[in-house]
Amino acid sequence: MSPDGDAIRVQNLVKSFGGRRVIDDISFAVKRGEVLVIMGGSGCGKSTLLRHLIGVLRPDSGEIWIEGEETTRMNHDALARVRRKFGMLFQSGGLLNSMTVGENVALPIREHSTVDHKIADLMVKMKLELVGLTGFENLRPSEISGGMKKRVGLARAIALDPTILFSDEPTSGLDPVMTAVVDTLTLDLVHKLGMTAVVVTHDMTSAFRIASKMIMLFQGKIIAQGTPDEIRASANPVLKQFVDGQADGPIPLRLSKGDYLKHLIG
Ligand SMILES: Nc1ncnc2c1ncn2[C@@H]1O[C@H](COP(=O)(O)OP(=O)(O)OP(=O)(O)O)[C@@H](O)[C@H]1O
Ligand SMILES: [Mg+2]
Repeated sequence: MSPDGDAIRVQNLVKSFGGRRVIDDISFAVKRGEVLVIMGGSGCGKSTLLRHLIGVLRPDSGEIWIEGEETTRMNHDALARVRRKFGMLFQSGGLLNSMTVGENVALPIREHSTVDHKIADLMVKMKLELVGLTGFENLRPSEISGGMKKRVGLARAIALDPTILFSDEPTSGLDPVMTAVVDTLTLDLVHKLGMTAVVVTHDMTSAFRIASKMIMLFQGKIIAQGTPDEIRASANPVLKQFVDGQADGPIPLRLSKGDYLKHLIG
C-alpha cells in the first residue's frame, strides 16, 4: 500500500504507437475497496490503459504504483509477483474452447499455485457457485451462452482471490438483466472479498450502477473524473454527449486526423 493508502496510483502516463499518443499524460488514483470505472468511446485508449495497469505494456514515461510498489520499471520476476494479486477479465473473454468451464476456471490456480488437484477442484466449485454456475463445470465454452461465458471469465478472474480485479467490458453484448447480474456480482465480490476493481465499460447504466469513482477518456486524455454524482452534474460537452448517448456533439465520428479526400484519391 502506498503511504497515502491508494491501491493504484498512476502518474503522468504516456504511451505512443507509431508517433500517435494513445495515452496522453494520464494521472489518477484508486483507493482500496473502490470501483473505478473507465469510460470513453471506442479507440480512446481504455484497453491500452488497462494493459499498462496489469503490466502487459510498458509506458514511454510515467509511473504506476500498485499497493505502494512502482511497476513500470520492475523486472519480469517482480512484476509476476505483483500480477499474482490481480484478477483479469478480458474484453474478448479469453476462454479456451479446448477446455471445460471447470478447467478454464482452474487455469490460474494450476499456473500460480501449488495446491493439489482436490483443493483446486474445491476452489473452482466455490467460484462457480459465487457466479451462479454450479453444475456447469463439464461443459465447454462453446456450449454455454454469452452471459454465462462472462460469468465463467469472472470466476476465473477471481480464482485466486485477487486484491485487484480488472475487467474490460464485462457486460458488452449482454441483455440488461444479465448486465445487472454481472454488475451485482462485481459489487458483491468487491464487498465480500474486500477487492478493489477497475472496470472499463461504455455501458452507462452499468457504469453508474457500480462506480465509486469514474474517469472519462477522450483521445488518450482524462477529460473528467469524479464520483458518479459529480460526473452526472458535469457540464463538459464531450462527457454529456457520451453519458446521454447523443449522435451530435464534439465527439468525432472518424478517429483519423488526416484529410479523407487526399487519402481517398491518393
Ligand atoms: N499494440 C498496438 N500497436 C499500435 N496501435 C495500438 C496498439 N494497441 C492499441 N493501439 C491503438 O490505440 C488506440 C486505442 O486502442 P484501445 O484498444 O485502447 O481502445 P479502446 O478504448 O479499448 O476501444 P474499444 O472501446 O473499441 O475497445 C487505437 O487506435 C488502437 O489502434
Ligand atoms: Mg477496448
